[in-house]
Amino acid sequence: MSLPKVLYLLAYLCLFWLVFYNFPYLKTLKIYYFPSFYSKYNPKISTTLFPILQSNTDLPDPEPIKNSNFQYKSEFFSQGNIENLHKEGLQCNPISYGYNKTEGNKIFPPFNWPECSSLAKRNESYIKIDRISNQMYMTCPKGKDSYYFTGPLGIFTFTSSETQKYYWRVEKYSDEIKADNIEFAIGRCGNKGKFKEVALVPIFNQELFKNLKSFVKNKPRMIIQLTLDSISRNHFYRKLTSLVEFLNNFSNLFPNLTVHDFKLHSTIGVDSIGNMIPLLGGKDKFIRSFKGNQKIDYYGDKALWNILKKKGYLSLIASDGCSDNFSSSLGENLSIDYSLRQFFCACSEYSIHTTKKKATKQKCIGPYQAHYYLLNYTKTLAKMYSGVNLWFYLHLNAAHEESGQHASALDEDLKQFLEHIIKESQDKYDIFIMMHGDHGMRYGPWLSTIDGYQEKKLPVMFLISSKSILDEFPYSYHSLHINTLRLTSNYDLRETQLAVAGITEPTSYSINLLDKISKKSRICEDISSIYSYCACSSTLKLDLESPYVEKILNQLLSYTERIINAKSYSHPKYPLGKICRKVNLNFINRAFLIVINNVSEIFKIETFLDDSNARFEINVYVYSDDSGDSQGEISESIVAYGHRMKVKILNIKRLDSYAGKCKKKAKNAGLDPATCICS
Ligand SMILES: *[C@@H]1O[C@H](CO)[C@@H](O)[C@H](O)[C@H]1NC(C)=O
Ligand SMILES: *[C@@H]1O[C@H](CO)[C@@H](O)[C@H](O)[C@H]1NC(C)=O
Ligand SMILES: *[C@@H]1O[C@H](CO)[C@@H](O)[C@H](O)[C@H]1NC(C)=O
Ligand SMILES: *[C@@H]1O[C@H](CO)[C@@H](O)[C@H](O)[C@H]1NC(C)=O
Ligand SMILES: *[C@@H]1O[C@H](CO)[C@@H](O)[C@H](O)[C@H]1NC(C)=O
Ligand SMILES: *[C@@H]1O[C@H](CO)[C@@H](O)[C@H](O)[C@H]1NC(C)=O
Ligand SMILES: *[C@@H]1O[C@H](CO)[C@@H](O)[C@H](O)[C@H]1NC(C)=O
Ligand SMILES: *[C@@H]1O[C@H](CO)[C@@H](O)[C@H](O)[C@H]1NC(C)=O
Repeated sequence: MSLPKVLYLLAYLCLFWLVFYNFPYLKTLKIYYFPSFYSKYNPKISTTLFPILQSNTDLPDPEPIKNSNFQYKSEFFSQGNIENLHKEGLQCNPISYGYNKTEGNKIFPPFNWPECSSLAKRNESYIKIDRISNQMYMTCPKGKDSYYFTGPLGIFTFTSSETQKYYWRVEKYSDEIKADNIEFAIGRCGNKGKFKEVALVPIFNQELFKNLKSFVKNKPRMIIQLTLDSISRNHFYRKLTSLVEFLNNFSNLFPNLTVHDFKLHSTIGVDSIGNMIPLLGGKDKFIRSFKGNQKIDYYGDKALWNILKKKGYLSLIASDGCSDNFSSSLGENLSIDYSLRQFFCACSEYSIHTTKKKATKQKCIGPYQAHYYLLNYTKTLAKMYSGVNLWFYLHLNAAHEESGQHASALDEDLKQFLEHIIKESQDKYDIFIMMHGDHGMRYGPWLSTIDGYQEKKLPVMFLISSKSILDEFPYSYHSLHINTLRLTSNYDLRETQLAVAGITEPTSYSINLLDKISKKSRICEDISSIYSYCACSSTLKLDLESPYVEKILNQLLSYTERIINAKSYSHPKYPLGKICRKVNLNFINRAFLIVINNVSEIFKIETFLDDSNARFEINVYVYSDDSGDSQGEISESIVAYGHRMKVKILNIKRLDSYAGKCKKKAKNAGLDPATCICS
């Protein structure tokens, strides 16, 4: 063999050694490696090694108590009241109700937004609609050209944003114009920049009013589905503190109304669509998008507005966003009376307003926040149509963003809205308001901790009702009291609001909250929610002696060990072991299993080292569908349940206090101190 050949061979061997020696670490060095032997066409593997909960019908439920024998007293609302649930002995027993107060305030530190009017340095928009003179006019500062466009246009109430892009024709303003057909005007002072001037005032329809009036026999009803996007119960208590204070003073302010806090209101779907459309359009026809003609009212006579129309209800659907996911599922030609779809789509296109999750700037449009216009419009509409039955679906998107800090922007405005609308209407109306989240935070660290994961599935749900409505249902006060401590869902909200309007639509997966008690034995299946969305995640303490369990845990541990070492010991920036030493995880203290659904689960493992005080808690996601793929982290595969399953580490947490020199050293070196045991 000649010398160059030997050198080549040596070089080859070196390369071979480099690749293979480092191979396990390579996988973890942010190279998005995916095991070639895992195919997305593999069958989804059932993880039900451990039995999923069955309804236990032996749990005794209280006998219903008649209204005449039950004394209503509002509870003092507080985040911690959730603790009473544990005493109830429910079959649905979530492992966590979300971040506790301390943890929550750490992740979402208290923060108040400035008023948009103080940012804009004015209280008034430079564009106006005056319904007395019925004119639209602009009042831009002298010397600035003014531009505007007006709406609504076209006949579609719920047009997709794509179609709407071609709607608007911006014109130069010269003089006031007739506003008979103008519901909103959007304008700009100056030749460039965003459109920050808006005016929005509903147009009264005399014909419609007359028609609706003919339905009214007794006191009319006002039903409001007030949906706060991405607000969990805990987040509500953290971020809407004045509103909580207001609710705590509610029985003083409004002795003829009641308010209830539902503590175990579970999601039934993954996102807004999955949680809201089945409520609005019913479960049976629910679909995220459909083929063919989009200019229809897809849910037809199952849609709440169409059912309520027959009872003489005016309908408004208002969302301060422009998500096409709604129009794709509902259709674009809804048979509703009022909609703010065009206004907010135009704002999304022309003004600074957006509901993108990444957009964490304050959502001001001129001197007010986006949702203010929606609430103001609703107040005006309620006043215009005073005396007829009203159904409003208001969907507020202020908290639809990833920082988790915008929910507080709703606090004062919502409080004022509720106070105003109840004050103005309580004599003329029976009032029924469901103020709830569609789901909790779905972004940020929602899947990386069990608390975050659980909080996403536990939206806030307050029910405000006139006593006059409750009096119609003989067991309502007691039922409501009990139901605030039971598993409930949006399907119950559908059945209940229909019942309030005098329509019965019983299903096997819902109850009328004013009439029936949600059973102690109620579980996810009973509310037709699958495990990934249902809040009753069951947790099992694993038997470490079981060979089956041992096999899975060992694989998970060795995977975790590699990840930890890749992040510290063999970090590519430093020679091996320069800063952190190699970690051997070989002792398991305790391990739990959280069943998510039949194809995925979370293992929670407490492990420690034999030669150091370091203790770790590791949450590992094991799945055979694609539910974990999009999180942009490294996946591996292990053999479990006789098949290959994907594995992803959700988080690695230190249980010992690891403050001190080593933490500092690792931090300075740009390493994650939690994974570093110093050399
Ligand atoms: C998981 O459950 C769903 C519905 O609950 C079912 O359709 C599916 O076949 C199950 N998959 C496995 C692998 O067990
Ligand atoms: C709150 O949660 C954190 C994180 O799970 C935990 O460390 C802490 O002990 C909890 N505090 C209380 C008062 O329960
Ligand atoms: C806006 O109005 C409020 C009271 O209505 C007032 O306190 C505030 O100073 C006004 N802001 C500006 C910028 O004019
Ligand atoms: C509670 O309501 C009462 C009666 O309306 C009012 O006088 C009082 O100021 C309110 N208290 C708080 C803390 O808002
Ligand atoms: C409550 O209802 C009673 C009887 O319907 C009425 O007399 C009273 O004025 C109402 N109270 C308030 C504060 O509206
Ligand atoms: C619409 O739904 C898709 C898929 O569920 C989601 O990725 C997207 O963020 C949604 N868009 C909005 C605007 O909510
Ligand atoms: C929208 O629906 C209404 C009935 O509610 C119908 O009269 C109209 O023709 C529909 N529009 C289109 C474009 O299909
Ligand atoms: C609120 O509504 C009233 C009509 O009731 C209107 O005059 C006013 O301009 C609206 N305010 C905003 C900021 O839209």
